[in-house]
Amino acid sequence: MNSKIAELKIQFDAEAAKASNTAELEALRVAYLGKKGSITELMKEMKDLSPEEKKSFGQEVNQLKGYATEKLTACAEELKKQEIQKEIDSVPEFDISMPPSMNEGSYHPVTLVQRECERIFKTMGFAVEDYSEIVTDYECFEALNIPKHHPARDMQDTYYLDNGQLLKSHTSAAQNAIYKKYKDALINDGVPIKAIFPGRCFRNEATDACHENTFFQMEGVMVDKDISISNLIYFMKTMLSEVFKKDLKVRLRPGFFPFVEPGFELDISCLICGGEGCPSCKHSGWLELCPCGMIHPEVLKAGGIDPEEYTGFAFGLGLTRLVMMKYGIKDIRDLNSGSLKTLTQFIDE
Ligand code: PHE
Repeated sequence: MNSKIAELKIQFDAEAAKASNTAELEALRVAYLGKKGSITELMKEMKDLSPEEKKSFGQEVNQLKGYATEKLTACAEELKKQEIQKEIDSVPEFDISMPPSMNEGSYHPVTLVQRECERIFKTMGFAVEDYSEIVTDYECFEALNIPKHHPARDMQDTYYLDNGQLLKSHTSAAQNAIYKKYKDALINDGVPIKAIFPGRCFRNEATDACHENTFFQMEGVMVDKDISISNLIYFMKTMLSEVFKKDLKVRLRPGFFPFVEPGFELDISCLICGGEGCPSCKHSGWLELCPCGMIHPEVLKAGGIDPEEYTGFAFGLGLTRLVMMKYGIKDIRDLNSGSLKTLTQFIDE
């Protein structure tokens, strides 16, 4: 090889080995392969050579040119890899205990109100129970004094599984299991049954601003000797006054549910006008909030409790409805929408 070419190759290799970033590599490319680069300049020397020398010299310069181009590309790739690795290494290791740097999430308004109700009932000695969303026909209807073909089933059309089980249409579906769970303590040790069981319910409904196929209720029961409607009124009034942070009046109107006798609709004094009458309460001064009643003897019997000896009350608070009233939400569909615009406005008080 021509000694000049050989020398230039050594020099190029040495400089290429030193290049530590893409800018330096680019400078190297210009210095050797650019218009006035050392390798390009070599070509210009050809004119002074004899025809034979020209041939081999030209080949050797071209080889060096190809070699330098390839080497610069390889170096560039290697540098890129190193730069990426550097970037990866510079990211601090993920620390799961670090607080989130994004906007913090918020609780769903149903969760907020449910927790508030649970807190209040716990202070009054109620246990909080969780129950399955999939239940049997027996739990949802038969044990609640709603036999097959009873017209009360029409109002609670729900979703059925192939195995005959169904998505519970009301939290009352857990009553039977609750009675069976606590009856021994009641009968043997005289411990009253006091439990609430919030849960998601399902109904086969055409949806609109007031109806959803999925909503929340919070059921409550109390069973002991000599439980009366006064106990029911007391607990409901205390709970609702705390939730709304004002002293509310409540009233009972007759209502029919096969699993309570007598059955009621519980109304609260209107939150807007305080009972004077306004468009929100259709000028009646009252808002309908919670169906309830004294537990039907057949329902107690199905739960293994003797209705001759014990009585109790049950209520089925519409949790979703309560949330809508508390926060003035007009369309129930907003609650299941997953819309952050709607759902992030609520704060825990
Ligand atoms: N489970 C009834 C419903 O969803 C409400 C209710 C519960 C009524 C408890 C009375 C007692 O319609």
